[in-house]
Amino acid sequence: MTTLLRARLLHTPRNPFVEDDALEVFDPGAVVFDEDGTILALGDYAQVRADHPEARQLDRRDALVLPGFVDAHVHYPQIPVIGAMGLRLLDWLATRTLPEEERFADPDYARLQARSFLGRLLANGTTSALVFGAHFAGAMDAFFAEAAASGLRLSAGLVLSDRNLTEALHTTPEQAFRDSSALIGRWHGRGRLRYAVTPRFSLSCSDAMLETAGRLLATHDDLFFTSHLNETRNEIRTVTDLFPDAADYLATYERHGLVGERSVFAHNVHPSDDELRRLAEGGASVCHCPSSNMFIGSGLFPLRRHLERGVRICLGSDVGGGTGFSLLKEGLMAYQGQMLLGEDGHPLTPARILYLATAAGAAALDLPEVGDLSPGRQADLVVLQPPPGSTLEAVVGHAPSAEAALAATITLAREESVSEVWVGGQRVLAAG
Ligand code: GUN
Ligand code: ZN
Repeated sequence: MTTLLRARLLHTPRNPFVEDDALEVFDPGAVVFDEDGTILALGDYAQVRADHPEARQLDRRDALVLPGFVDAHVHYPQIPVIGAMGLRLLDWLATRTLPEEERFADPDYARLQARSFLGRLLANGTTSALVFGAHFAGAMDAFFAEAAASGLRLSAGLVLSDRNLTEALHTTPEQAFRDSSALIGRWHGRGRLRYAVTPRFSLSCSDAMLETAGRLLATHDDLFFTSHLNETRNEIRTVTDLFPDAADYLATYERHGLVGERSVFAHNVHPSDDELRRLAEGGASVCHCPSSNMFIGSGLFPLRRHLERGVRICLGSDVGGGTGFSLLKEGLMAYQGQMLLGEDGHPLTPARILYLATAAGAAALDLPEVGDLSPGRQADLVVLQPPPGSTLEAVVGHAPSAEAALAATITLAREESVSEVWVGGQRVLAAG
């Protein structure tokens, strides 16, 4: 049976940082998909309905329907840390975050948290994610088992560190290789799951550990790599002290073959021009995490410099440094950050924000089957319905255009407005 969803449909099948007319709007619109989740048609409602009289119709005419969101940087073991105020990165890690992450040595606790985490992704309309894992192999088995059952498109991996955290979170390069290889064997390529080699950051890794990450990455040609880069000035100083023979922070990863097209570096708030040049040359992606950068006080993201040098960009919530799971809110924070940068900022339109939250992430995570609603893609959809009596309802009701309704939605819509989520043509969340 085919399904026809009637709604106000918006997506970005082209790159709005390059093309002016990249936002496509169908209002009233319809999207049709088959049982396998493949999108068969997208367009104006009357035409699509006439072309597909056989499809069962779901009428969501007042709702905005967007492609499922792609969160390219979010930590699974950090839900209880959200909102830990008053601390900058290294103190925030030492006093609040690492003690919580030690609890994931218990696989039962890990499984409960994994379930809760996946529930929060879905509740916020996130259908694909690159997930920063935990330091314990048992916690990652629990995560992957829950992730497989969720149907979400997820990449994740065991977090590797051998110095400067706490003893409980440290391993050795040899153990890291063994544990990661076993996890890759069990989970990489299973259903919608993929494995990402994940040293926490150079500050917590010896050169031998980063070399091990490079050896792991080379065992398959389609593994992902993720870590942190240039988040705060204090962290950068510490890394350059720890690696006196490295030219800069990026070089600590580069020399082990960790900067490629399947690499995603979170933050990069304080890069040098040369690092930006080398990130672009390597085809790596930088994940902008605006709410985290503001909450932890790391700085305002130099989006313009990244774009000028051709660095690939995506968007992440960075829970629990970030302030929640909503990629719409991250879009609002990104917008505000660029406004605050004035002349040095890069203007973000609703189309650019939607693109960062969807198609840009799909490109970074090599998910060509999602990211927009073009025929042939998989139907990963988020249905946004303003709650009755909400501020969003009051604003959207007077929006002069679908683009203005999208801007209001980015500004105001949060979990309570996510009424349905579809992944691969299956409804995986029906709120209320
Ligand atoms: N750098 C190393 N670990 C972390 C983390 O958990 N959160 C953030 N924001 N930065 C990090
Ligand atoms: Zn992070």
